[in-house]
Amino acid sequence: MTDELGIRRERALRAAVEQGLVSEGEPVVGLLDVTGIEHATTALQAAFATPGVEITHTFAVKAASLVPVLALLGACGLGAEVASPGELALARAAGIPAGRTVLDSPAKTVSELRQALVLGVAVNADNPQELARIDALRTAVPGTAAPVGLRVNPQVGGGTIGAMSTATATSKFGVALRDPGAEEWVLRAYAERPWLNRLHTHTGSQGVPLDLMAAGVRAAYELAERINQAAGRQQITVLDIGGGLPVNFGSDETTPAFADYAGLLRREIPGLFDGRYGLVTEFGRSLLAKNGSVLARVEYAKSAGGRPIAVTHAGAQVATRTVFVPDAWPLRVLALDEKGRPKDGDPVVQDVAGPCCFAGDLVAKGRPLPLLAAGDHVALLDTGAYYFSNHFAYNSLPRPAVWGYAVHADGKVAFSPVRTAQTEAELLTESGAGLPPLHRGQ
Ligand SMILES: Cc1ncc(COP(=O)(O)O)c(C=O)c1O
Repeated sequence: MTDELGIRRERALRAAVEQGLVSEGEPVVGLLDVTGIEHATTALQAAFATPGVEITHTFAVKAASLVPVLALLGACGLGAEVASPGELALARAAGIPAGRTVLDSPAKTVSELRQALVLGVAVNADNPQELARIDALRTAVPGTAAPVGLRVNPQVGGGTIGAMSTATATSKFGVALRDPGAEEWVLRAYAERPWLNRLHTHTGSQGVPLDLMAAGVRAAYELAERINQAAGRQQITVLDIGGGLPVNFGSDETTPAFADYAGLLRREIPGLFDGRYGLVTEFGRSLLAKNGSVLARVEYAKSAGGRPIAVTHAGAQVATRTVFVPDAWPLRVLALDEKGRPKDGDPVVQDVAGPCCFAGDLVAKGRPLPLLAAGDHVALLDTGAYYFSNHFAYNSLPRPAVWGYAVHADGKVAFSPVRTAQTEAELLTESGAGLPPLHRGQ
């Protein structure tokens, strides 16, 4: 399977160049491996499948806010975890049913909450103030079918990337469970609301080790047990254990696998799978990352201070985190020739730069690669998650097109559009063109 992913990718990169997907007019594109996404989805479902346990795997839309991708995942049986009205709109446009959608944002407005209750979308309240808003809204939307949960921060600690760690002592997310009086408040909140029937936690994303993720889930599970015991019934019926499985950006291997994580949870928290709880998961990166590449033309190849530099069209606008926090988000870069084939040649230490007008716009620094020349291409690997949803609008560079690919038995590659490149007209509109002149002071 690992090799197949690499083989499909190599064929797709070459076909994308041959078929003119990457061109003078569109010198950078995103590519997604449809078969790979389907395989990842199947692996997730198989890893968690347990007789007698109802499991809803939602996809964290923030990882790939692309309607055709959401529709593909929906057709594979997944739901959507959304964190804004825009993400909810995308999930609905993709046909994801409300019953398979979860709203998790930390700053939900009253109207967002009302919409979720009206639609029957599950809501995870982030804090006591939000829960009070939901109390009031439930009166205004009587008979809502929307399940409601509470997000807790188990405060089990952070991983290697601070910005991705949501279970630190001072994280902005959820009810900080170990703070004085917090658990007592949670128990009271459930006791006073017989309809509050879910509990949610998400320990973090990339950089959080599996045992810490499991510790976060265990804390939520144990809390659910205490809440149910206090209620004298199974008040919490669904545990939402979040996402966060880290991705290996160093090779084509999928490690850790969904099966590793599910196996750990089964060993560490057997009660999670004994049929008393339904489960919701919210994976993003681990479903998509390894199934995507950014393909870009090398516009110029130059040298400065003895350092060869390939100036490409893939920089901070598409690889924002990699450019700004390179140590946390290193990417593998493939050197490809003018036809999109792997480039031969001894490795030469070089920089791979993007098109943005600031010196730090490098996607790889001092990287040994076959020496790149003008007219060659580069591929940034494992960019299927977050790279197509974190566009950085600096320099008014357009959001690139994204294509899905499938490789047929005869080796031919079929592309289907996932997103068209942003047009100049769209860029102008987004930048205020056509609005009336500004009022000036007298
Ligand atoms: C609440 C929640 N769930 C799920 C995810 C998805 O995480 P990942 O893409 O690491 O699986 C995130 C990521 O920020 C999140 O905040």
